[in-house]
Amino acid sequence: MKTRKMLFIALAGFIGLTALTSCGGGGGSEQQTSADESTKMEDASGPDDAQLARGEKIYNEKCFACHQKDGNGIPNAFPTLVGSDFLLNHTKEAVAQVLNGSEHVPSHGNITYPAPMPPQVDNYEDAVAVINYVLNNFGNDGGYITVDEVKDIKIIR
Ligand code: HEC
Repeated sequence: MKTRKMLFIALAGFIGLTALTSCGGGGGSEQQTSADESTKMEDASGPDDAQLARGEKIYNEKCFACHQKDGNGIPNAFPTLVGSDFLLNHTKEAVAQVLNGSEHVPSHGNITYPAPMPPQVDNYEDAVAVINYVLNNFGNDGGYITVDEVKDIKIIR
């Protein structure tokens, strides 16, 4: 009787150990890795929430005074950003303008504004964040630009 009980305990222990080893570590952590990878791929298709929040903050601190809360600017003083050809179709130059001011980018459009746009930010990350913000607000649907695409712009200021 006593021996049988011992045998049973030993057997139960062995089964328990086998079960633990077969479903431990390996399979579980592989699943975790592939989930992480799919999150990264989503990020690559557009800026993350942190960048967009940063862009909005910069707009409200700096750009808003001239281009106004709704992006419409002030006629003959500050151009509208809504449907702006320069912003939507010359996006990299728009990034350069935010970094260096409008005196340092090729002239565009046929309206001459009374004063040039002064430089606004001093690094690629902030410039791209705010341009991505204005590209996708105020009714604009302008896609996104990445920091890698603008790294060859010379920061003059
Ligand atoms: C002091 C006023 C002022 C501030 C602040 C300002 N801008 Fe401007 N912005 C201008 C003026 C003036 C022009 C027109 C410049 C020119 O044509 O030479 C302009 C032009 C632009 C254009 C080109 C639009 C077009 O169709 O010609 C973009 C894009 C732009 N600004 C984005 C921004 C962003 C983004 C910010 C904030 C980071 C900003 N601006 C801050 C005055 C300002």
